[in-house]
Amino acid sequence: MSKLWGGRFTKKTDQLVEEYTASIMFDKELAEEDIQGSLAHVTMLGKCGILPDGDVEKIKDGLHKIQNIIRRGEMEFTVSDEDIHMNIEKALMEEVGPVGGKLHTGRSRNDQVATDMHLFLRKRVVEFVGLLIKLQEALLEQATKNLDTIIPGYTHLQRAQPILFAHHLMAYVSMFQRDIERLQESYKRINVLPLGAGALAGTTFPIDRHFVAEQLGFDKVYENSLDAVSDRDFIVEFLSNGAMIMMHLSRFCEEMVLWSSTEFNFIELDDAFCTGSSIMPQKKNPDVAELVRGKTGRVYGNLFGLLTVLKGLPLAYNKDMQEDKEGMLDTVNTLQGALQLFAPMVATMKVNKERMREAVNTDFSNATDIADYLVNQNLPFRQAHEIIGKIVLYCIQNKKYLLDLTIEEYKKFSSLFDDRIYAVLQPEQVVNARNVYGGTASNQVTEAIARAQVVTTEA
Ligand code: ARG
Repeated sequence: MSKLWGGRFTKKTDQLVEEYTASIMFDKELAEEDIQGSLAHVTMLGKCGILPDGDVEKIKDGLHKIQNIIRRGEMEFTVSDEDIHMNIEKALMEEVGPVGGKLHTGRSRNDQVATDMHLFLRKRVVEFVGLLIKLQEALLEQATKNLDTIIPGYTHLQRAQPILFAHHLMAYVSMFQRDIERLQESYKRINVLPLGAGALAGTTFPIDRHFVAEQLGFDKVYENSLDAVSDRDFIVEFLSNGAMIMMHLSRFCEEMVLWSSTEFNFIELDDAFCTGSSIMPQKKNPDVAELVRGKTGRVYGNLFGLLTVLKGLPLAYNKDMQEDKEGMLDTVNTLQGALQLFAPMVATMKVNKERMREAVNTDFSNATDIADYLVNQNLPFRQAHEIIGKIVLYCIQNKKYLLDLTIEEYKKFSSLFDDRIYAVLQPEQVVNARNVYGGTASNQVTEAIARAQVVTTEA
């Protein structure tokens, strides 16, 4: 059979042009959504009296048969039929004869492809929210197990103040919560039906767009037919949300890579999530964490790719828009791979509590608390800061930590010091003193975990 659009042409398409313009190699991923959209469309054509019921039934039967062939992996897609829409329409006509040619009544590939993309992303967004919740659950479980684990907290990657390891993990729970909310919020812009916009201006047939929307579970139909076929904002938004998720995962990856190095030795990733070296027998590399960090680059690239494709496009449809698919599919696959691996990687991570404790005992991350101690004796904070700076310098010069100094040594710096200072400097005390909503005190973190558990079970 010749091209579905062949009537106006007198020459065969150049072979290279055919290959260059085809999208079937990647848009076959949209087969389910394409058939789902066609079924709703043809049902509406029947309901509105545009096609007789007999034709509608034949077309639906044919579409179901093709759906099964595709599901069984037996469909032969061809580049000469360009894209998924025409491959399926061609197969339909082979299946049911010329009546199949009535399916495209009142429809264009322009509103069809947009509909497929909306259906596709809608499903993916729900899946990603589910995967993010699984990841949050793994983090919550680790946090619960580490309510008594103290690590140095860092700023500038310099030890700053001791914190609960649980508190650190809970920071990621908050980040992923925002990611979930962004995806959920984007849903209302994804769940809008373009079909019925025709090629760009609407259609002369008395169609019922709201009926199609209802069948497909869309909350709304596009207000404007030009916008319906030109809008790819919802894909850009998805790519941006995906980029943000990868950014969060990547920061966590960076910490896992650092923490599992001999220098830190704070955690050990499970063997199942690491690989070895082909030359150095001692090595256990955190490849998954590194690759998630690395793959963040392509997800950012997909976002910028599509933004750039769209920036110069006049209304309405342009073939450039076919370029929306590979980046989107790549982001979907990359995100899926990363999220699927991340939850079990976090769940199986071994936490080296002793080593973390040792790190906290051999640093000055409790220095702020002596300053606060002097402030509580009515000394202005700036003066207290100056005095503690001198004490730290004294310690460094004498190879001591703050808890090693005698009370006589302390008194040389200020007469305000007495024995109570030693209790103030204990890591547990330092952590629990930050008893402010959102702080690292163990009762605050316990409550934060409880609040997050409510949110994840409600989602
Ligand atoms: N394969 C095309 C795409 O992905 C489908 C829409 C084609 N429309 C057209 N008028 N050529 O964008």
